[in-house]
Amino acid sequence: MSSSVQHRSIAKYRRRAAGYDASTGRTRVLRLRTIDGLLLQPGDVVLDVGCGTGLSFEPLRERIGPTGRIVGVDQSPEMAQQAVQRVQSRGWSDVTVVVGPIEDFRWAGRFDAILFNYAHDITRSSQAVSNIFRHAAPGARVAMAGMKLFPWWAGPLNLYALAKNWGWNGSVAGMRRPWDIVQRHVPDLRVESTQFGMGYIARGRVGGVTAVADLDGPANEAVAPGRS
Ligand SMILES: C[S@@+](CC[C@H](N)C(=O)[O-])C[C@H]1O[C@@H](n2cnc3c(N)ncnc32)[C@H](O)[C@@H]1O
Repeated sequence: MSSSVQHRSIAKYRRRAAGYDASTGRTRVLRLRTIDGLLLQPGDVVLDVGCGTGLSFEPLRERIGPTGRIVGVDQSPEMAQQAVQRVQSRGWSDVTVVVGPIEDFRWAGRFDAILFNYAHDITRSSQAVSNIFRHAAPGARVAMAGMKLFPWWAGPLNLYALAKNWGWNGSVAGMRRPWDIVQRHVPDLRVESTQFGMGYIARGRVGGVTAVADLDGPANEAVAPGRS
């Protein structure tokens, strides 16, 4: 991620952190659907990329049970501080919050599942995404949710989408197909449109079979390599 995007993001979340949770009401159901897409099992180790205030921790914990573990990473000190407070106030010993850019993240183990809930700036950085997938277990499950542009025919509505996202992201570049860098690592990524086309949810597996098409194509289904 370029340092200007990073600095803008940190500055925006410094201002937004206090009111962040209250602003997420309408997307909570989508966040939960994204988490469901991880098909979590008891004992899974989950990486929550750009975990923010830790909104996903509780639903993740419910699914991985007492033998699972969550590692949340966020570069915004103010957002991460709220995540830490959430963990401490609930007495969760199975959740670790790492403060810093995900590009510099290092972890000794491998993750069974990787969650990108509304982490646009991260998903647009090849450097960040490569580092994340360096930490993925073979076959790790991946799920992401975020905002995107409306289809091309919705034209001017996209000015609204861009303006809305500028408030939250260090950059609004790459909103046509925000998942395409992650898709290099998750060839079977299935993308579903949400919020009348202004949002998406995607899920797949590291090393999954290649998808023949995605959201914009006629058939969003996976096939074994070699089949056409
Ligand atoms: C829209 S918030 C989403 C937070 C959380 N995932 C949720 O669902 O509420 C995006 C978060 O990504 C974090 N972020 C952006 N770029 C980052 C980077 N390079 N490394 C780590 N965190 C980053 C921001 O600080 C912010 O907390």
